[in-house]
Parts: sequence; C-alpha cells; structure tokens
Amino acid sequence: MSDQAHGPEDGATPAEEHGGDNGVHVEKWEGIWMRISVVIVVVFILAIVISTTAFGIGVPGVGGRINPNTLSDPGNPFEKPGIRELAPGKYEVYMVAQTWNFMPEKIEVPVNSQVTFYLTARDVIHGFKLAGTNVNMMALPGQISTLSATFDKPGVYNYICHEYCGYVAGAPIGHHTMYGQLTVLPTHALTTTATTN
Ligand code: CUA
Repeated sequence: MSDQAHGPEDGATPAEEHGGDNGVHVEKWEGIWMRISVVIVVVFILAIVISTTAFGIGVPGVGGRINPNTLSDPGNPFEKPGIRELAPGKYEVYMVAQTWNFMPEKIEVPVNSQVTFYLTARDVIHGFKLAGTNVNMMALPGQISTLSATFDKPGVYNYICHEYCGYVAGAPIGHHTMYGQLTVLPTHALTTTATTN
C-alpha cells in the first residue's frame, strides 16, 4: 500500500473527514457515463412503451393449444376457417396454415377494422407474414398464435408463408405457392361495398 492511500484502516474515510458529501466519490467521467447509461435505459423503455401504445406493435401471443388432428372436427374453432364479425369494426380471423395453402385464402375487411388473428398449422411449421404491416407470426401444429392489428389504410395486403415448408416426401415443393390476400376496403361496412369485380 502506498503512502497516499487513505483506506478505512486510517480510521476515517475521506467523506467523513469532509463532513458528509454523500460519502461516495465518483470520478467526473464515471459520473457522466453513469448518467448516459441511465438515459439510454430510459429511452429504450420509452421506445417499448410508445411502440406498444402509439404504434400498436406487439409480439404474437400464445392463444392456447390445440390438437392438430382435430381441426376439422365439428365444433372446433378452426373447423370453418374464416372471418367473423364480433362488433362493428371488430373482427376475428381463424386461420389454418397447411401444406400448401392458407385457409382462408382471401379476407376482406372495411377500413379501420381491428382484426384479431388466430393461427394454427395442420401439418408442419408454417409462417404468416402480412406484407406491409407488422403482422408476422409462426404457425405451429398444436399451438394457436394470436395477434391483433388495425387496418387504417385501404389496399391489398398479401400474406405469405415465410417458414420453409417445401418438402413432403414424394410431393413437389410448394412453399412458394403458399399465399393469400387481405383486402382492406375503403368503406366502413362489409355489406354496403360496391366494388366491381
Ligand atoms: Cu408453408 Cu412455407
């Protein structure tokens, strides 16, 4: 130990000698970086809070488990995949991903609709990515993935499978043919649409 060291062995700490001053000595740059670290953490927490509240960005949740062999059984929520209206502007979509298509392959909702997706897979792992939106989930046999999204811009949104599900023994590869289309209509009610096909 050098002569300049004044440890607790000397009887009094520097802080005690100076009558307080919080008792902790922090170097100038150490203090600056400690403050920067705190600011960065606060900014990250704010980014999460703002993205989940203001922008509605969330991670897919686990909506439950389901036996993939029972999806077609009477009374199964995935028996007739498709869209259901819960209330004006509120919908739920039960969707089955399978080799190699989505059921349903087409969805229509009026603009500003809030849609909750319930997604599962019948055979192997598939993916569900709704291009141009934040909707992006995995479709797992035995599990129901769920995610809500609000569609405030009319247009056509393609959804694709983004998990490579191409090969089943003896069958041609069809991963790239697995897609569908969600149309956001520029009206506020499905029944009064006057779109020409
Ligand atoms: Cu289903 Cu790739």
